[in-house]
Amino acid sequence: MSLERTFAIIKPDAVEKNNTGKIIAHIEKAGFRIVAIKKLHMTRAVAEGFYAEHKGRGFFDELVSFMSRSPCFILCLESENAIAKWRETMGATNPEKAAEGTIRKLFGGSVGENATHGSDAPASAARELAYFFAGMELL
Ligand code: RTP
Ligand code: MG
Repeated sequence: MSLERTFAIIKPDAVEKNNTGKIIAHIEKAGFRIVAIKKLHMTRAVAEGFYAEHKGRGFFDELVSFMSRSPCFILCLESENAIAKWRETMGATNPEKAAEGTIRKLFGGSVGENATHGSDAPASAARELAYFFAGMELL
């Protein structure tokens, strides 16, 4: 077993509702080490670049408007099996379908505004971490 890193966002809806601290507590309780954390207000162009894989989908415009409407917190999280573990800790994309006790069940408002983001694979974690963090911030 070896340590793995993943990229997470506490999305604008959760920050607006003052749920940032509660979500960070949940992250730490789940056993992740917070390697880096930064507050950021994404421009529309930054959000479009981040979610480029979804360009052309029906919800893309709504998604980038949401992600750029107010500040979020971006994080690098580390643990054994961090990518899958963080997806499990967040719960399903749609908060209504998320398991009890997961972050999206507890703090998500809708399928579009679902409190957190998590990388879905090693390649996306590497891309997303490099998109937002300089190498020296992840030492
Ligand atoms: P994320 O990338 O944010 O961690 O979410 P995910 O993997 O669970 O879901 P994904 O399919 O990658 O979708 C990215 C984000 O787009 C928004 N979305 N809205 N209105 C809709 O039908 C819809 N579908 C997806 C959500 O904010 C979702 O997290
Ligand atoms: Mg995704």
